[in-house]
Amino acid sequence: MSAAILDGKKLAAQMRAEIAAGVAALKAEKGVTPGLAVILVGENPASVSYVTAKGKACREAGMLSREIRFPVDIPESRLIETIEALNADPAIHGILVQLPLPKGFSEKKVIDAIAPEKDVDGFTPVNVGKMLIGDDCFLPCTPHGIVKLIEVTGMDIQGKHAVVIGRSNIVGKPVAVLLSRKGRSANATVTLCHTGTPDLSVYTKTADIVVVAAGRPHTLTGDMLKPGAVVIDVGVNRVPDATKPKGYRLCGDADYESCAEVASAITPVPGGVGPMTITMLLWNTLESARRG
Ligand code: GUN
Repeated sequence: MSAAILDGKKLAAQMRAEIAAGVAALKAEKGVTPGLAVILVGENPASVSYVTAKGKACREAGMLSREIRFPVDIPESRLIETIEALNADPAIHGILVQLPLPKGFSEKKVIDAIAPEKDVDGFTPVNVGKMLIGDDCFLPCTPHGIVKLIEVTGMDIQGKHAVVIGRSNIVGKPVAVLLSRKGRSANATVTLCHTGTPDLSVYTKTADIVVVAAGRPHTLTGDMLKPGAVVIDVGVNRVPDATKPKGYRLCGDADYESCAEVASAITPVPGGVGPMTITMLLWNTLESARRG
């Protein structure tokens, strides 16, 4: 194996220490404690673990964490009323609704209910639109964390070919926008691949950066890469494994062993992109509290 491991845990720890210092300073100077409300509907095991991790990270940074859990059969109107109450609550600077919502909910209606100035996920149409036109806004957490991880490699993204696999609103589309923007840590030529792309390797073989967010293990293998490429693996897949205490292990969308033979740097799963998503959420919440 030749690739350097892009250690998201380490970068996240450094950034969270800076964020915690920022929180302490805001408390001391203005008496304001940043507050994040996280809403979970239902009991999807992956979502439960993400929400728990977000609450813990929030408290560790010195922020107020308000966790709101609803059963799967809560009426959508009740969820929206809760969001509206949080929009008006001065102790809350960030509101996050964990996605995906259970079947029957309109994610669009629910996300639309979040006040854009408290939308620390960067999911509302106002913030998505601002990102697209390059206005100041809350950047979506996973894409922003991915840019930070690529920066760690020291690679100048400018002029490079970045291939993004997956066109979700949460990762694929916004990553493509951020990497293709004008400016620092951007200005790449971006190819956005998806399930309609007949042969991914046609594109990945010329890529300097591959971001794989397809939600499917083994989407990217070493033979699809150009030597020296940087691989960012966003996948978090649970694979049954009787040798593990929980009965499963986590794996990404990239085939780690074969990609690490060819890439110059690669994110592990777990410990790569995941910790950065939560870190950028804290970052946005602190920023929101500073804006007041
Ligand atoms: N589900 C998967 N990733 C995310 C995220 O970044 N934010 C929210 N709210 N839900 C998610």
